[in-house]
Amino acid sequence: MNLHPAFTRGKVAVITGAASGIGRAAAEKYADLGMHVLLADLPGDKLAAATDAVRALATPRGAEVEALAIDVANFEQVQGLQARAYARFGQVDVLMNNAGMSVPTSDWRGIEDWRRTFEVNLWGILHGVQAFTAAMIAQGTPGVIVNTGSKQGITNPPGNPAYNATKAAVKSATESLQHSLRNTPDCHISAHLLVPGYTYTGLTRAAEKPAGAWWPAQVVDYLLAALARGSFYVICPDNEVSSADDARRMLWAAGDMVEDRSPLSRWDPAWQAAYAAFKP
Ligand SMILES: NC(=O)c1ccc[n+]([C@@H]2O[C@H](COP(=O)([O-])OP(=O)(O)OC[C@H]3O[C@@H](n4cnc5c(N)ncnc54)[C@H](O)[C@@H]3O)[C@@H](O)[C@H]2O)c1
Repeated sequence: MNLHPAFTRGKVAVITGAASGIGRAAAEKYADLGMHVLLADLPGDKLAAATDAVRALATPRGAEVEALAIDVANFEQVQGLQARAYARFGQVDVLMNNAGMSVPTSDWRGIEDWRRTFEVNLWGILHGVQAFTAAMIAQGTPGVIVNTGSKQGITNPPGNPAYNATKAAVKSATESLQHSLRNTPDCHISAHLLVPGYTYTGLTRAAEKPAGAWWPAQVVDYLLAALARGSFYVICPDNEVSSADDARRMLWAAGDMVEDRSPLSRWDPAWQAAYAAFKP
């Protein structure tokens, strides 16, 4: 597979939310490529188990693996992650701001659940960007910052308004970040928005992989292919939603504003027939 130059033997990846799901699959893949990996996640057995598994892949390839237990909602701890990465490896070539959480939220109840979801899903990513970007630019070598969004931040389905709002903000902040990076002289760092489809992870909370879901490793392979092409938007399909389906859903959502429809009109009975005629 053709790879972005940041993904080569001896390069360094820092991944938040690396103890499970997509983050762990990324850590395993990068270690398998011979990259050094720093895994970050909340303290606990999951992080230790993931670190052992990633190290088992890295060691035969001459790569080294470190782990740091942090809460991405705490800026000092994310700054500590940056300091550990540079003290240990002297460079960071791949930063994946991937840690995320989802708890049930309601539009006008549970303010603390809204706050915590924002602290982790949005502030966790902003902390990573603020702590790492200047140092990565200063290296003068090609690197990537991958922020994990969600289709829920683009098409805004009903069900978890706080989660959707955090992911919409991640999309906005990451688009702006990439605009600023490409306008920064001598900058070889690019930002990318990873939008997984339905993926079987800790977040999905299913006992077995649902047929419609992708494995986390499929998301990582899709990401690597997209980064090699230079794509900013990495919008993964899954086993039940194709890229063509996603395209129609995103166009329809944007059409709510252009056509003066109700918000979330895809789920408004008044627009069901029109949407049925529009989708592929
Ligand atoms: N699984 C899906 O279908 C799906 C779809 C779209 C987007 N995503 C996004 O993908 C990303 C990865 O999630 P996943 O699906 O692999 O889930 P996961 O639960 O398997 O992994 C998320 C990891 O983030 C860690 N984490 C949570 N809060 C943290 C904090 N405050 N500080 C540090 N680490 C923390 C968790 O401990 C966990 O190990 C998330 O941002 C999620 O929103 C997932």
